[in-house]
Parts: sequence; C-alpha cells; structure tokens
Amino acid sequence: MKRRQFLRSAALAGAGTLILPRARLFGAGAASNKLNVALIGTWGRGEAHFGVLRGENVVALCDVNEEHLAYGAQKLNVPNAKQYVDWRECLDHKGLDAVVCCTTDQTHAFVANWAMNRGLHVYCEKPLANSVEEARVVRVNYLKNKGRLATQCGTQRHEFENFNRVRELVRDGAIGELESVSAWGNRQIPRPGYLPAKGEPPKYLHYDLWIGPSPFHPYNPGYFAGGPGMNCLSWNMYWDFGSGQIGDMGSHTMDLAWNAIDAALPTSAEGKGDPFNPEVTPVRLEMHFDHPANDWRKAIQVAWYQGGAMPENPYRAVDLNRIDHGAMFEGSKGVLVSDFTSRLIVPNGDKADMTYYHPRAKEALIPKMHGFQQEWLNACKGNLKTSCDFEYSSNLIEQMLLGLVAYRVGKKIGYDGAAGKVTDNTAANELLRRTYRPGWTLNG
Ligand SMILES: NC(=O)c1ccc[n+]([C@@H]2O[C@H](COP(=O)([O-])OP(=O)(O)OC[C@H]3O[C@@H](n4cnc5c(N)ncnc54)[C@H](O)[C@@H]3O)[C@@H](O)[C@H]2O)c1
Repeated sequence: MKRRQFLRSAALAGAGTLILPRARLFGAGAASNKLNVALIGTWGRGEAHFGVLRGENVVALCDVNEEHLAYGAQKLNVPNAKQYVDWRECLDHKGLDAVVCCTTDQTHAFVANWAMNRGLHVYCEKPLANSVEEARVVRVNYLKNKGRLATQCGTQRHEFENFNRVRELVRDGAIGELESVSAWGNRQIPRPGYLPAKGEPPKYLHYDLWIGPSPFHPYNPGYFAGGPGMNCLSWNMYWDFGSGQIGDMGSHTMDLAWNAIDAALPTSAEGKGDPFNPEVTPVRLEMHFDHPANDWRKAIQVAWYQGGAMPENPYRAVDLNRIDHGAMFEGSKGVLVSDFTSRLIVPNGDKADMTYYHPRAKEALIPKMHGFQQEWLNACKGNLKTSCDFEYSSNLIEQMLLGLVAYRVGKKIGYDGAAGKVTDNTAANELLRRTYRPGWTLNG
C-alpha cells in the first residue's frame, strides 16, 4: 500500500482499536513515518514551527515575500522543497499530507478550508477566522472531515498545565456552582486608520497576494515594520487584515476560560468601548455574552475586556490590573483568578470552609500534553484527536467576532447559533460576513 493511502486508511479507521500506530508499522524515525508538509508563512511566527517540522518532510514552502521563502528554506535546510508565493498553488502540491499556516489573519479561514477540501491535515495559527461566517464555514468543513483529518488552531499556551488545573478546579466545585467568567488583556496599540500610500512594494514582496481576499489598501512599509513573530502587531488592528486584540491575545486568553466551561455558541452578545472607527478595531472594549446551560453547569455569562476595560476586583487584596492577560471564574462559593501559568482561589467570606470541594486524586488529573504542535503531528499519524481542533476553536472565535458585531451596531443582539443568524438586528446580520475581492473564494 502506498504511504499516503496508508495514512488515509489509518485515519479513516478513526478511533478503531485495531489500528497500530504508524511508528510501529514503519519503524520510528523511518522516512515513511514522516508527513509531507507544506509551511505557508516561512518567517516570523512560521519560525516557531521549524523545530517540530525538522522531524517531518517539508516538501513545499510558501510565502508572499521571496526573501522570507529563502530564509525558511535555508533555516529548515530544505533546498529541494518547492517554493510558492501563492498559497492556492501550494495547496495543490502533489503528495502533501499536511499544512501549517502562519499567514496574516485575513487568509486563515481560506487556507484552512482549501486545505481540508484537499484532504490535508491543518495546523492554523490563531485566530482561525476573521468573521463569524468564516468561523462557521471552517467548522462545517472540519465536521465533515472529523474522522479523517487532524486540525489544531495555534493557541499553543493551551499546553500549560495550569489550563487543566483551572478546568479541574471549576469542574470539581472549588468555587461552588459556576456563574460567570471574564477574560481580559491589557495590550493597547492605537492607530488612526489605514496607513497612507508610501513608495512601491519591494521587488521580492508580492503585495497583491499579501492583500489577498481583502479590499485593496495601498502599500506602506509600516505594515511590514515589525520584528519576527511580532509583525502581526503592524497590521492586525485594521479591520480588513485582522480583528485587533480579539484575534491577537484574545484568542489565547479566552482559550484559558473556554477550556474550563465547555461552551458552544452564545445566545446573545453585547459590546461597548471606543467610538467606532471604520478602519481600525477598538483599543478599549468590553463584550458580554449569555451562554446556555450544558450537562454540568447552569447558564452562565461570559465577558471579554481589553485595552483598559477590566472586570471588578473580586476582593480588595486582589488587583486584577496586575495581571496582563487573565481570566476570572465567579461561582456561588468563591472566585478563581488565573493567568496563563498560575491560579488563585478566593472563597466567599469568613465562613467559607471549602468542605464542599473534594480535590481529585492524582491519578484522576487531566494528563499533561507533551507539546502542542507535537500533539497535532501525532494526531495526523494517529487518532486524529487534538485539544484545539477546528470545532473547539471555531466556536471560540465565532463568539468573539460576534461580540465585535454587537459592538459595531451598539446594541445587545440575540443570536441563533444553529442558524448562524442574529435574531433581532438586520444591520448586525450584514456584519457577520466580509466582502472579498473578485477572484478569491473562501471555500475553494
Ligand atoms: N500563536 C502565537 O503565539 C502567535 C504569535 C505570533 C503570531 N501569531 C499569528 O501568526 C500569524 C503571523 O504573524 P507574524 O507576526 O508572523 O506575521 P508576519 O506579517 O510576519 O507574517 C508571517 C509570514 O507570513 C508571510 N505571509 C503573509 N501573508 C501571506 C500570504 N497570504 N501567503 C503567504 N505568506 C504570507 C509573511 O511574508 C511572513 O513571512 C498571525 O496570524 C498571528 O496572529 C501567533
């Protein structure tokens, strides 16, 4: 059986217990045990994936910047990998198994959909989408392929053990019955509007492909002025390229909350903050959502705060402002405050004795994840299961992007998550999707 066929049939068999891990069939480290991977975005955040990708066959590289392409080929030591400047051509590279996408936010859902439609496993940097519609289309495609493809959205802080300790504390009743959750981030990058036209794009930069599906904005070197892995802060606050702090730290910090609450989509959203600017996402913003009950908790409220907006301190000795990016869970018997790697419980009042809480046995703790990117690579070769698959991550980002829609219309909106429709505001419904330049298809 050919290598790729084997991979498919093993994957198709899904959770079947008869399937041996490929490593055992092929011998660990054997060439045949490696995935044929394409890396799209070969500089900046792309470099965070070089380490794990060196263990696979990187057969294709894609970047709109030819200097960055050369950089990736040299650092990964893959001189024979085929180089592309257009990700649509790259995804048709023969023999691919998987793709890692580290491009600008406005292309993530496109690459994810096109890749899944071609039967490829996908690791996509956060945020998974730039509009509610994009999140939903990615989810539909993922659910269609759930027994065949492994997906992971790049919220790699999820591997911190604290995420699961927080989940266990909330689930096991350390704060009583869960009532509400808030997450926040303090990053502030104010900008007046799109940058003015300035000079010509350098010869090595395919600027039109960089703009991709978004409405055209003239070239300005300011969109490319950031250091490696930080350049996203040069463009992600402009509506046509990103979603500001929602897609930036919001993806990571809401993940800390989301991991503990088993939420799907909210039934309402509300947002307020800086006056609306049609070119730039708000710096200061707070958003509130109603989430229905599930099988272990009642209905809860979820909130997001950014850019100076903050939830109230739960107790005078706790100053939430000292936590740059954090989450707070409020329950009937206490409060849990967490940053990415540590947590604190404040029981309610003098009489709280915590007898209501029974810590789980060590053996019952949620097991440690051994590397977030590695989890995805293992899943591609094994049981296809990842922590931040495109169902989990599309729900998370759909909620956040819906909050931005509510902010834009300036009203609390009702949401029918099954239908993907705002129930009480026509203008808000129009804002669930973006318009694309001719020639670009979201679900190609
Ligand atoms: N998970 C994390 O912690 C983390 C950290 C930083 C960035 N990111 C995410 O990674 C992505 C990239 O961020 P960055 O700071 O590296 O940005 P960047 O502007 O430096 O872009 C990264 C690379 O992608 C290339 N690129 C951009 N658009 C492309 C396209 N359409 N096709 C092919 N190549 C393209 C760029 O030329 C560059 O080489 C963003 O979506 C950002 O949110 C995630």
